[in-house]
Amino acid sequence: MQVQIARRARLIERMRAAGGGIAVLFNAPEVARNRDSHYPYRWDSYFYYLCAFPEPEAALVISVDATSARAELYCREKDEAREIWDGFRFGPDAAREAFALDAAHPIGELDARATSLLADRPALFYALGAEDSIDARIARWLAGVRAQARTGVSAPTRAIDVRAIVDEMRLVKDAHEIDLMRRAGTISAAAHLRAMRACAPGRHEYEVEAELLHEFRRNGSQSPAYGSIVAGGRNACVLHYRDNAAQLRDGDLLLIDAGCELDGYASDITRTFPVNGAFSAAQRELYELVLAAQAAAIEATQPGARFIDPHDAAVRVLAQGMIDCGLIEGPRDAAIESGAYKRFYMHRTSHWLGMDVHDCGEYREPGEPGTGESRPWRVLRPGMVLTIEPGIYVQAADDVPERYHDIGIRIEDDALVTTAGCEILSRDAPKAPGDIEALMRG
Ligand code: GLY
Ligand code: MN
Ligand code: MN
Repeated sequence: MQVQIARRARLIERMRAAGGGIAVLFNAPEVARNRDSHYPYRWDSYFYYLCAFPEPEAALVISVDATSARAELYCREKDEAREIWDGFRFGPDAAREAFALDAAHPIGELDARATSLLADRPALFYALGAEDSIDARIARWLAGVRAQARTGVSAPTRAIDVRAIVDEMRLVKDAHEIDLMRRAGTISAAAHLRAMRACAPGRHEYEVEAELLHEFRRNGSQSPAYGSIVAGGRNACVLHYRDNAAQLRDGDLLLIDAGCELDGYASDITRTFPVNGAFSAAQRELYELVLAAQAAAIEATQPGARFIDPHDAAVRVLAQGMIDCGLIEGPRDAAIESGAYKRFYMHRTSHWLGMDVHDCGEYREPGEPGTGESRPWRVLRPGMVLTIEPGIYVQAADDVPERYHDIGIRIEDDALVTTAGCEILSRDAPKAPGDIEALMRG
């Protein structure tokens, strides 16, 4: 629990700098799938980051003034009958001790205690506008405090989005997080390797997906970090392809975008390889272009660089390559300026990665002047983790050279910014064409 205590201490420090007040963070609700079956439970990332308590129906309340601070948990009570059906519940007493909190109470008492918790606090920190039900509950609490104004108490006059504070903390990963993300990267890389070995013409996308899931789970990952994309041939040109149902054809490529979640941390890897184990000339040409774009982007991923630098580096390589292949017209800078390359590369090269696959954190410097697109891109610092995922997607069309028709390629790795440059957390998944072909032959 030392990690969570340290994180709470940092939040407390920032709340104090903002004049103090009370923070309320709710864990995610359970969601019904149908009748009495539920989707697999996944706690709220912000809540879990600060206290690691794994049960639904829980709230973390942190009160801070100039000289003191207190963290309380509200959670389900012990319930022997329910525990026979659904499994262990901590209950407040055990939870307080196990999660190193100052106090813990039954969740059923939260609404009744809210008035006194909020009374005379200058500010309320919560996830503003995240959930209608939370906004409504907070409004009821505030009304409750205001109703007691004649007794002399005052209600918070400021609401501050607690996520904005925690986002900044989550953007730079601590040692505990880096260790988990390294392990998640290793497991996911092994899954991609397994998928390459299992792939053959005539098999189905879902059969290959099953290999990924097998490798995730047998290594202790709780689930995929997002819906796996297993896209053969032209399906790879659908950026969020999810059917994973088609039969794999000799001569096609297979694009797999899949990563596991390990103890709450995501990995996000894409590999593209030939279904029959050997790249055709046209496939190899485009593949090497994407690989070169990725190498340029990785080179640009270093402390002090801006978030957009890896993307710009990848786009320069891709645009020139598209011109050389006859996909678009040059010169390169004009093709970049006009956005002509976007016909075949329509997404960004990076996003933050962490507890959420598209992780939190602002992409532009919060402290610097400007608004919207005029604000400078974020400076990369050691401990930040981002994906590097250039691609090329060539839909068949009359004005496109036929040899490239229906080829979709993406190569995606996870990069931890270090003091020297970056560490590729997903490096165990092969991506050099020769390595892929050798592996698939073996
Ligand atoms: N798998 C989602 C992404 O690559 O962003
Ligand atoms: Mn990604
Ligand atoms: Mn991905």
